[in-house]
Amino acid sequence: VDLDAIVCLDDMERAAQRVMDRQDFDYFAGGAETESTLRANRAAFSRVTIWPRCMVDVSDVDTTTHVPALGLRNLAAPLLIAPVAMQRAAHPDGECAAARACAAHSIPYCASQQSTTAIEEIGRAGGDDAPRMFQLYVLSDREATTRLIRRAESAGATALCITVDAPVLGRRERDVRNRFELKAGLKLANVDAKKNQNQNQNQAGPDKSAVDAKRAQSAIARRIGGRDASLTWDHLAWLRSVTHLPLVLKGIVTYADAARAAKEGVAGVWVSNHGGRQLDGSPATLDALPEVVAGVKEGVKEGAPTCVVIFDGGVRRGTDALKALALGADLVAVGRPVAWGLACGGELGVGKAVELLTEELRTAMTLAGCRDVRSARNRELVQVVGETP
Ligand code: FNR
Repeated sequence: VDLDAIVCLDDMERAAQRVMDRQDFDYFAGGAETESTLRANRAAFSRVTIWPRCMVDVSDVDTTTHVPALGLRNLAAPLLIAPVAMQRAAHPDGECAAARACAAHSIPYCASQQSTTAIEEIGRAGGDDAPRMFQLYVLSDREATTRLIRRAESAGATALCITVDAPVLGRRERDVRNRFELKAGLKLANVDAKKNQNQNQNQAGPDKSAVDAKRAQSAIARRIGGRDASLTWDHLAWLRSVTHLPLVLKGIVTYADAARAAKEGVAGVWVSNHGGRQLDGSPATLDALPEVVAGVKEGVKEGAPTCVVIFDGGVRRGTDALKALALGADLVAVGRPVAWGLACGGELGVGKAVELLTEELRTAMTLAGCRDVRSARNRELVQVVGETP
């Protein structure tokens, strides 16, 4: 793919679609059931307008930010790469290429527990100074969960993101129709070394080929799929007892859950509906963002420490990111664009995606009269269509 011909993230998605296998593209692009929430995420941005201020000195706009509560410093922009599973399905260098690109651009990379590269290797690829997080599903097997947390700590994650919107997988019908499976040779790499060894032995046999590989893979998928659907607020204490890393709860969309999370003292809530891949019919994340911000405020008022708000869902433009910042997000994340970047050009492709978004955000801030991220986080900058000014 000629990266110079790619002018925006939508171009990048179209280019990725041209070069990817149908089943891989659909895996990354798809949502749950009717995909109404997937579409709603995008549509919500067109209902929010940005009201620019003029005659502001914008000769030197500063997009940099720090989020000390999550151990994230010197970020080039308030952006973040969301955890996206199985990135080697998009490019052979997968997670490592993406982590390198993020490190080079000083944008944090959140590794997925369901990565096709081991967390240690992703950590090394980014290098010591790379801002990074690790996403975790709490498994029924608490020892296995603790081992994953230790590995994330050793790999340099400064915050743990606990995904709470996926006690079971949403029904992604494209994958069912396509009979989507990881290609032979790829595996979910964060399972215990012993299990991997078994799997590698399975695959090593002279002509046991595809069938065994497939069987091994589905065994592992079942295992790592051992997430604990009985997880409740009561389990936060257990998580705190096994790690000192700040915790972020990913997948919160209601006022009540946000207020509870803040009151419980978590370091952050991540407004997300998993990119429309879980509960079809759940609200667009941009519509949920003001509720969550209000909920967090309420929780903090009752004495909890600050609680950071991360936002994702359909962000494809700098103006999308600016709208989310204005509505109260501290960091704005993108998921699918990392897959499109990888498919279009590995590390360079992800770098291009990050550059496009950062530069678009800078342009949007400049035109809106925001000299820095602090002034962009201003509720008066935007109106929701239909809202009384
Ligand atoms: C995801 N997402 C996700 N989230 C998570 O917590 N753990 C995971 O392993 C994954 N895996 C994953 C795979 C794929 C293919 C997609 C598209 C998404 C959700 C992800 O972190 C994020 O919430 C959404 O992708 C954000 O929406 P956009 O930016 O993709 O529209």
